[in-house]
Amino acid sequence: MTEFRVAVLPGDGIGPEVVREGVKVLRAAADRFRLTLTFHEFTVGGAAYERYGVPLRPEDLEAIKECQAVLLGAVGGPAWDDLPAAVRPEKALFTLRKELGLYANLRPVRAYPELASASSLRPEVTAGVDLLIVRELTGGLYFGEPRRRDPAPDGDGWVATDTLTYSTGEIRRIVRLAFTLAQGRRRQVTSVDKANVLESSRLWRETAREVAREFPEVALTHQLVDNTALQLARAPGQFDVLVTENLFGDILSDEAAAIAGSLGMLPSASLGGRTALYEPCHGSAPDIAGRGIANPLGAILSVALLLRHSVGHGEAARAVEEAVAQALASGARTADLARGGEKTVSTAEMGDLVAGAVGSRLKG
Ligand SMILES: NC(=O)c1ccc[n+]([C@@H]2O[C@H](COP(=O)([O-])OP(=O)(O)OC[C@H]3O[C@@H](n4cnc5c(N)ncnc54)[C@H](O)[C@@H]3O)[C@@H](O)[C@H]2O)c1
Repeated sequence: MTEFRVAVLPGDGIGPEVVREGVKVLRAAADRFRLTLTFHEFTVGGAAYERYGVPLRPEDLEAIKECQAVLLGAVGGPAWDDLPAAVRPEKALFTLRKELGLYANLRPVRAYPELASASSLRPEVTAGVDLLIVRELTGGLYFGEPRRRDPAPDGDGWVATDTLTYSTGEIRRIVRLAFTLAQGRRRQVTSVDKANVLESSRLWRETAREVAREFPEVALTHQLVDNTALQLARAPGQFDVLVTENLFGDILSDEAAAIAGSLGMLPSASLGGRTALYEPCHGSAPDIAGRGIANPLGAILSVALLLRHSVGHGEAARAVEEAVAQALASGARTADLARGGEKTVSTAEMGDLVAGAVGSRLKG
């Protein structure tokens, strides 16, 4: 097999701790499925600012672009909060997303039965939830122009403007990706918009209908975003793939995180260009960094996404996901998952358990 290059970007806070476990599991999967992976580590975020004075060196960006996938921990922390925007740790992430052309953010949310008591939702509400949020990442309100402040005409303060723009092409490519992913799942797409009010949402809905004609075997439903917010908390089991624009996706994906029980459980993938980026949904968690207690499962499940979407090895991806389920079923809990006196395992112990479960199938 030809070499598959993985850029490893541990970042800040708990980033290095969880990425180490992700790489451990990826190595176990590579051994079992005979994949030729090579790992290339780069310093980014606050750590890169300390070392080089910038959050991402141009030469590192070029080298990262030569890799097929990126595994990132998290960037940022209080030490760098007062830096100018151009050198803040987050700038590394924004630059990577832009330079790698990552227009689609995938956040799978699965309710593990073993963690039912860790969720703030009732077990009968979360039972069986297995949904995928596909969020548009490079358009909409976060990037639209004009964005500015003008003096208020009545002399009282300011008038602030942000602009929400979407083109047919931008909508078509993300909706098409959502339909393609639904083909390998339960074949239901829910397109989320605010078409009763917003012109950009009316174009979104028309375009989603057009794309749906290319996928007759996949069912399309339209839902207004306010209703989706309610349905995610009321009956999340109804969803398979949700596709939506940038701002709605940002909010809904955090809401859906409550289903999984801990932020530390959630993986993500950002796709669009030749190099895709995989990272847990959480941040650098400075409050627990350096103590070896962070939950590495978000990073490990991101490795499963890497195997599925970049390496193209669905079987290896499933093996990692099953190994996570197996570790949880064996009773292993990091501190964020433990309830009422349950014994906890460290970050490294959880990684060892999952890597062991991936590797043990060798004998089977
Ligand atoms: N993609 C990224 O790199 C990213 C994303 C979000 C926040 N951040 C940055 O991270 C820093 C901290 O942000 P925050 O505190 O708002 O969010 P956070 O996600 O880092 O932490 C929120 C809470 O969840 C807990 N937590 C997060 N991940 C966990 C894990 N794997 N295991 C156990 N507990 C976990 C933390 O201890 C904390 O109490 C900030 O500098 C922020 O800018 C980075």
